[in-house]
Amino acid sequence: MAAALAGQDVDLLICNAGVYLDKGQTIEGYPAQMWADTFAANVTGVFLTIQALLPNLRASQGKIAIISSQMASHTRAPGGSYIYRASKAAALNLGRNLAADLAGDGIAVGVYHPGWVQTDMGGGAADITAEAAADGLVARFAALSTDTSGCFETWDGRAHPY
Ligand SMILES: NC(=O)c1ccc[n+]([C@@H]2O[C@H](COP(=O)([O-])OP(=O)(O)OC[C@H]3O[C@@H](n4cnc5c(N)ncnc54)[C@H](OP(=O)(O)O)[C@@H]3O)[C@@H](O)[C@H]2O)c1
Repeated sequence: MAAALAGQDVDLLICNAGVYLDKGQTIEGYPAQMWADTFAANVTGVFLTIQALLPNLRASQGKIAIISSQMASHTRAPGGSYIYRASKAAALNLGRNLAADLAGDGIAVGVYHPGWVQTDMGGGAADITAEAAADGLVARFAALSTDTSGCFETWDGRAHPY
């Protein structure tokens, strides 16, 4: 992707891809390969994508949006889904630290909980449609600035507890 976009400005990079492989695992589960596969997509993939597109983002003082989850929070900790929770907590941590490192480049980084959304991952019983989540998130991306860089917010604009 970086090769295909070489020389082009990127105004907004949304790191949305993610997997939730340990849904329904019991405490005896959580095999090592599941940890590796989850972190490859949810954490390593986020960092390496941002790293690869830094020249494009620097050229336009672009913004970075990381789609994490309320399951990143250590304040809200009901148990279960250890791999997914740890991966989304790591994605939140990446966003907070990248916000510090990229401030000098004028690049703002926001981290978001998209809501419980009716997608393949969220399932049909989820709270909100993908359209509602996307509309809310797009408004949050527009509001993101270097002043609010490092924020962790919900799709509808509330500060999320860490
Ligand atoms: N749905 C929810 O309630 C909810 C709640 C909190 C957070 N989130 C987060 O929101 C984001 C979007 O989730 P979703 O609900 O849309 O999930 P989804 O329905 O399972 O879709 C996941 C998307 O990620 C892509 N993807 C997964 N692994 C990838 C990889 N290694 N490389 C490239 N693309 C990859 C998938 O592409 P393919 O279709 O090509 O596999 C798919 O487009 C995720 O980060 C998720 O953790 C979702």
